[in-house]
Amino acid sequence: MAYRVGIVGAGENARDHGRACGRVKQTELVAVCDLSEAAAQRYAREFGVPRRYTKLEEMLAREDLDIVIVSVWGAYHAQVCTAVANSGKVRAILVEKPISLTAAECEQMIAAARAHGVLLMEGYKFRHHPQHIRVKEIIDSGRIGQVRAVRGTFSSPLVRYAHPGNWRYDSKKGGGSVFDTAGYLIHLARHLTAMEPRRVYALGNYVDGVAVELSAAILLDFPQGVTAQLLSSYEYGYCQSTEILGTRGWIRIDLPFDQRSVREVEFVEKEELPATLHVFRDNFDAEVYQFSSVNEFELQLGHLCHCLDTGEPARISPEFSLANMRTIDAVYESIRTHRPVDLP
Ligand SMILES: NC(=O)c1ccc[n+]([C@@H]2O[C@H](COP(=O)([O-])OP(=O)(O)OC[C@H]3O[C@@H](n4cnc5c(N)ncnc54)[C@H](O)[C@@H]3O)[C@@H](O)[C@H]2O)c1
Repeated sequence: MAYRVGIVGAGENARDHGRACGRVKQTELVAVCDLSEAAAQRYAREFGVPRRYTKLEEMLAREDLDIVIVSVWGAYHAQVCTAVANSGKVRAILVEKPISLTAAECEQMIAAARAHGVLLMEGYKFRHHPQHIRVKEIIDSGRIGQVRAVRGTFSSPLVRYAHPGNWRYDSKKGGGSVFDTAGYLIHLARHLTAMEPRRVYALGNYVDGVAVELSAAILLDFPQGVTAQLLSSYEYGYCQSTEILGTRGWIRIDLPFDQRSVREVEFVEKEELPATLHVFRDNFDAEVYQFSSVNEFELQLGHLCHCLDTGEPARISPEFSLANMRTIDAVYESIRTHRPVDLP
């Protein structure tokens, strides 16, 4: 029998989850909930979802769900997830990135999930892409020696295409380029170095009339002199690139967070830009790996189903997400105080 899925938040990103539910055979999308009746109605019609709700409690009381996907604004992730976990009725929660607004919120979510035996996974979908599985294998094989530095950029020119009412400009909804795009880079740098930063330095760029930072420059100071230099932005042209520098070579990841989705406001016009890895060795040997287009939302949902089938832990553990939030907390504190922030 298919896993019954309920989705909370019927906006732009939920459409990618809806399409994934349609393609992942082990799942069936049976309910949608949105504060906006119009949004829920439109979504239900578009994806043929049999039941729709505007109150989460009602959905949880009436439905018998296996998986809940939380795709509401970041400011409500913790509230929604905690209510879903505390209902004691679901087996897994897939919550969009960033998992919460603060590490403290994330701790509460983990406690609620643990108390009710719920599998909680953050939706950093890129981690399920073969490109990322391969890059980690290459690093772990020692081919570029020991990782000493990560340099990454994730910019998406929101200022050119997004409506001023977009949640990304709204601090009360969880907007801002650190929450939205730097979170990816921080996650990736921690994953690839397999280390936690000890100290964070960050600068934010603000413009008049916008409450959130449009860009951020972040330096993560890891143990043993390892560093990550990260740039996230809503102002620069579209750029996704990451370099990993080891003691015997380096790797460039092109399009590390590729998203060939069918978004309403999507500014990316080209389909099928290949995700690529370049591996350069000290002796000037170079290898290039290209990865054909995959749908990360499908891979992510398929992985969650596999975890439910087998009892295996999720690729992204809640503790990993918590440590990401601790780093994001420190980034915001450093931006606010103009000082480096030490992490415990
Ligand atoms: N993984 C990705 O590639 C990706 C891409 C875009 C957005 N996201 C994430 O998806 C989430 C939603 O972003 P979006 O762009 O779809 O936003 P959106 O504004 O298009 O849609 C959000 C929807 O959630 C509803 N909502 C808000 N709070 C709610 C609540 N408490 N209960 C029920 N419904 C509620 C709103 O009414 C709205 O319809 C964010 O967390 C964002 O970070 C992820």
